[in-house]
Amino acid sequence: MSRITKVAITLFCALLIAGTTSADQSDRLIRKALRYFSPLPAAMPGAENDTPERIALGRKLYFDKRLSKNDTQSCASCHRLEDGAAGVDNLPTSPGAEGQIGTRNSPTVLNAGWQKSQFWDGRATDLADQAGQPILNPIEMGMPSEQAVIDKLATLPEYPAAFRTAFPGAEPALSYANLREAIAAFERTLRTESRFDDFLRGDGSALSEQEQRGLKSFMSVNCVRCHDGPLVGGTLHETLGVEAPFDNQKDQGRFEVTKDDKDRMVFKVAQLRNVALTGPWFHDGSGSDLGDVVRTMGRIQLATELKSEVVDDIVAFLHTLNGKGLKTP
Ligand code: HEC
Ligand code: HEC
Repeated sequence: MSRITKVAITLFCALLIAGTTSADQSDRLIRKALRYFSPLPAAMPGAENDTPERIALGRKLYFDKRLSKNDTQSCASCHRLEDGAAGVDNLPTSPGAEGQIGTRNSPTVLNAGWQKSQFWDGRATDLADQAGQPILNPIEMGMPSEQAVIDKLATLPEYPAAFRTAFPGAEPALSYANLREAIAAFERTLRTESRFDDFLRGDGSALSEQEQRGLKSFMSVNCVRCHDGPLVGGTLHETLGVEAPFDNQKDQGRFEVTKDDKDRMVFKVAQLRNVALTGPWFHDGSGSDLGDVVRTMGRIQLATELKSEVVDDIVAFLHTLNGKGLKTP
């Protein structure tokens, strides 16, 4: 064997070993990650009853500005879905039908149906419960009552028949409960697969080295104590400011709903699917840089000062949760 051949063979073997080692490392990381996370399930809870007619009606309602008092605002005004938008308006807080600004940031509707509860303070139990509220909220869509919404829809030519086909046998078919259910049915189709799902399903090459380092740090510094499951969050209500107070103490979270002192500053653990696309962050929209938000989480939730390389790696990992086909705002 010539020297050159030997060198070539040695090099080839070295490359092969390097290749398999890193594939092995990815496999180990996948196994570890599966203790905390899972790929996005096929369907959201409740989707079994969602017929195409019900989903189509829900979509029509979701985009219809006539569900607001002065025909200026639909669900999609604050939870944008067109042109690859990530289910948010990317504003710190959103203007309502009459221009008044609410106090909380609009969270994404994408994948929301897998959460344990809805709203930053978790006050709605599910999508249908949630969907009825903004329409009647005076600083959101501002309709005066459920009956007023139904009376208005009854005068619009396309709705009475669409409710009858979406809710066959229901008497009356055109009701506020069915409106909520139809919007929820549409929202249950808002599911976004990401590269993280490919990784968890066994494709070690779906995440770059830096993204894998970020995932490792996310687990080792214990972000997973709160952010876990298929949405990397959305399953718990937790104190915001476990180790150090959150800057803004005006909004006391679940306390505003329960008036129970132990709920002061308790918020739903935000889901992190698409988080890199849904800024600004936090319930008050005060976080304008994702790296700073990650650093704040380390400091106030875990009493950890994260090094900037670690912050960068975690931010890189969070980008792998972006839905395929969605666009940076
Ligand atoms: C004026 C802007 C605005 C409009 C219009 C609006 N929303 Fe929202 N939405 C928000 C804000 C702000 C929150 C958070 C409020 C809170 O937590 O108290 C929210 C919360 C939600 C959530 C909870 C998500 C989560 O992760 O907790 C869902 C789902 C949702 N909205 C769907 C809808 C639907 C469906 C409609 C139409 C019927 C709608 N929204 C209309 C601003 C809006
Ligand atoms: C003790 C529980 C807990 C721990 C630990 C935790 N978080 Fe959070 N996280 C929360 C809660 C609660 C919120 C919602 C904050 C709010 O209401 O403004 C949140 C919000 C976030 C947000 C903003 C989401 C958005 O849509 O605005 C990001 C990003 C985030 N966390 C990342 C992390 C990272 C990275 C770590 C680890 C360094 C971490 N979190 C550790 C509970 C936790």
